[in-house]
Amino acid sequence: MSDQAAAGIYPPSSDFAANAHVNAELYATMYAASVADPAAFWAEHGKRIDWIRDYTKVKNSSFDYGNVSIKWFEDGTLNVSANCIDRHMVQRANQTAIIWEPDDPAKPARHITYAELLEQTSRMANVLKAHGVGKGDRVVLYLPMIPEAAYAMLACARIGAIHSVVFAGFSPDSLASRINDCQAKAVITADFAPRGGKKTALKANTDKALFDCSDKIKCLVVKHTGDQTSWVQDRDIDLLAEMAAAKPYCPYVEMGAEDPLFILYTSGSTGRPKGVVHTSGGYLVYASMTHQITFDYHDGDVFWCTADVGWVTGHSYIIYGPLANGATTLMFEGVPTYPDAGRFWAVCEKHKVSQFYTAPTAIRSLMGLGADWVERYDLSSLKLLGTVGEPINPEAWNWYNTHVGKGTRPIVDTFWQTETGGHMLTPLPGATDAKPGSATKPFFGVQPVVLDASTAAIQAETAAEGVLCIADSWPGQMRTLWGDHERFQEAYFSQYKGYYFTGDGCRRDADGDYWITGRVDDVINVSGHRMGTAEVESALVAHEKVAEAAVVGYPHEIKGQGIYAYVTLMNGIEPTDSLRKELEAWVRTEIGPIAKPDLIQWAPGLPKTRSGKIMRRILRKIAENDHGSLGDTSTLADPSVVDDLVANRMNRG
Ligand code: WT7
Repeated sequence: MSDQAAAGIYPPSSDFAANAHVNAELYATMYAASVADPAAFWAEHGKRIDWIRDYTKVKNSSFDYGNVSIKWFEDGTLNVSANCIDRHMVQRANQTAIIWEPDDPAKPARHITYAELLEQTSRMANVLKAHGVGKGDRVVLYLPMIPEAAYAMLACARIGAIHSVVFAGFSPDSLASRINDCQAKAVITADFAPRGGKKTALKANTDKALFDCSDKIKCLVVKHTGDQTSWVQDRDIDLLAEMAAAKPYCPYVEMGAEDPLFILYTSGSTGRPKGVVHTSGGYLVYASMTHQITFDYHDGDVFWCTADVGWVTGHSYIIYGPLANGATTLMFEGVPTYPDAGRFWAVCEKHKVSQFYTAPTAIRSLMGLGADWVERYDLSSLKLLGTVGEPINPEAWNWYNTHVGKGTRPIVDTFWQTETGGHMLTPLPGATDAKPGSATKPFFGVQPVVLDASTAAIQAETAAEGVLCIADSWPGQMRTLWGDHERFQEAYFSQYKGYYFTGDGCRRDADGDYWITGRVDDVINVSGHRMGTAEVESALVAHEKVAEAAVVGYPHEIKGQGIYAYVTLMNGIEPTDSLRKELEAWVRTEIGPIAKPDLIQWAPGLPKTRSGKIMRRILRKIAENDHGSLGDTSTLADPSVVDDLVANRMNRG
């Protein structure tokens, strides 16, 4: 181990830096230029995509609470689908755009060329048009990780429809509320979603969801596994059959840079999920640039992001970023542990993956199963590793570095959010000294500031701690919440006036490197999935035996954070293990399996202030098994409830 590694610093190798798009010197000059004159910087880099009509106005944004408005390249026009497909046809028609690896390794993988991508996307766009879907209409996608998910996103973009992908692990209720919130005209789903050898009944879930939606909504079904499903005459459409009969080419529609490309629902600290809106021009510029620079993507590389297209990571780094760059992107239907714990590495070997991008939770769970699973495979094609979604603990970073990276591949720890469209803080592999657990430095155009959480004072010293805000707009930023610009301003611009508030706490060290310390609001991060504690609480109290519930996060070895629920039952209801199981199952069906509480504690009472506000700080401490330092409990209406909660706490780890 080098002295620097011993000190926890991993500089880029000179070999890597020599061939990288960006080295340390270039990062310094480009970053300085990007913040000194953002409009000039992005005027130049906006040219990386094809415009139908060139922009003349580059940046027009205000973070002033009450007047928040964000526009980039506003008078330019383009089509995102044409940028991801058509513009590559001269050079890359026969290059593989998408490698599809099925759940079952015994089934053949598929290699979809750019020419096929154009044809399939066109066919699907023509089917959507035939069913009345046009510019500005919303289409909800509830699909497995299959090529049709990519075709569907790109088909919507092609005709100017706005897609909203709903992760296939969400329940019928969650699907219905998203369909209704954006008033979708059509839903695209599949019969079943195979994952880890099991099948989720997507069509049956969609049927249930559509009971609670307008009966005008069309349901386009991909017969993927071919298993039998119900069929509603005049509503359900056999998508693959209609695609086969449709015209193989569909012209693309000219869109404004600020026309919405997609809505993606994400959890907030209060209320129902928020419909994050991303628009066309700025988002694509940012997704493609971050994909190329952060991962140092070069022609001929095979890029694999293991996320699901139901999350923003899948949008930006399976579909839009890579395809805008003419890359070969890998799409994996399965899970890391099926048929065994070597699957990720088997897929890397089989498809000669160059860049591998996954979540710390996956690394931690594989780490627990032993490095033998990694050592069995030839990983010599790998050039770079990445992580996303939550802070990575140094043990997991070291395991990833040693066993997967063989100590020689750069690791990029990318901090960003559904709201940010692309990477915000990340090492650049040829430029930045990596430190296990730190997302290090801002990407071009990103101006992070650390504010004191309570006074909002700017922490000007390099070494500082506080909440992470961003001082000015960047092209990939969300523009609004669907149908609710007020809530958008409240959620992101009201706490720290003049700044975009990420919701995260952070520390900046003496080298100016950022370390994310986690959410400071009532959002928890479970296996890299974002969960609002309020959503789990409202699911619990919707159960007839539950009087009250409070949900907090607690440290979980594999998941990062686990879900800890305090539940007060209705008068006369017995707390039993079977009721605990019933409540777990209830939350699974209300929201989805990712929201299932890990621990449920029966709480005869919850700690409340005299005005009736639940003291979450105390509940968090008890859940963290840190009850020695509960702080001041004298303001509680009934301090004795705390003793009961401590005595019966579930997490004694
Ligand atoms: C939240 C955003 C961005 C795609 C995946 C999650 C946390 C994300 C990191 C990282 C520490 C991270 C933050 C953030 N987060 N990446 N590299 N290090 N924390 O998107 O569901 O919108 O969640 O994930 O807390 O606010 P998301």
